[in-house]
Amino acid sequence: MQLVQADPESIDRVLQIDLGAGPHPWPESALRRALQSGELVLAIADGATVGFLVSQPVLDETTLMHLAVAREHQRQGWGRQMMQGWLAQQRLSGQQRLLLEVRRSNQAALALYRSLGFDTLGQRRGYYVSPEGVEDALVMALDLSAVGSANR
Ligand SMILES: CC(C)(COP(=O)(O)OP(=O)(O)OC[C@H]1O[C@@H](n2cnc3c(N)ncnc32)[C@H](O)[C@@H]1OP(=O)(O)O)[C@@H](O)C(=O)NCCC(=O)NCCS
Repeated sequence: MQLVQADPESIDRVLQIDLGAGPHPWPESALRRALQSGELVLAIADGATVGFLVSQPVLDETTLMHLAVAREHQRQGWGRQMMQGWLAQQRLSGQQRLLLEVRRSNQAALALYRSLGFDTLGQRRGYYVSPEGVEDALVMALDLSAVGSANR
C-alpha cells in the first residue's frame, strides 16, 4: 500500500468512499478544501484507492482530521496500514506529536488508535452536533518521540 498526495481527478472516488464508509461523512466542500490545501492523501493498493486521510501539520504537531476506508475494504487491515504509513511519514518529517479527535461511540476507530499507542488526553463535551443530537469527542495524542519499536 502507498500513501500518495490526492490529485483533482481523485475527488469523486474520495467522496464515494466517505459516503459509504460510515455514518458521518464530511461535507463535500470540506473534502474539496482539503484537496486544494494539499492535506488529502490517498491509500493505493493494487492500483485501487482503498481509503484516504486528511491531516494538518502545525509546527511540530500534526492533527489527523479525517480517515476513511472504503466499506468494501474494511476489516482487511487497510486502516491500520494507512495509519502506520502516516505515522512513519510524520516521524520522518520530524513531527513530535500527533493529535486527533474521535466520537466516543466510534469503537472501530478508537480500537485502531489505541492499538497504535494513542492515549486519551481528554474529552470535548457535545463537540459533534448533528440532527441526531450531540456527542462527545475524545481527544487523543501520540508522542512520537516516545513511541516504541511497534510503530517504527
Ligand atoms: C475506522 C476505519 C478507518 C478502520 O478501517 P479498517 O480498514 O476497517 O480497519 P482495520 O481492518 O485496519 O482494523 C484495524 C483495527 O481497527 C479496529 N476495528 C476495525 N473495524 C472494527 C469494527 N467494526 N469493530 C471493532 N473494531 C474494529 C480493530 O481493533 C482492528 O484491529 P484487529 O483487526 O486486529 O481487531 C473504518 O472503519 C472506517 O473507515 N470507518 C468510517 C470512518 C471513520 O469512522 N473514521 C474515523 C474518524 S475519527
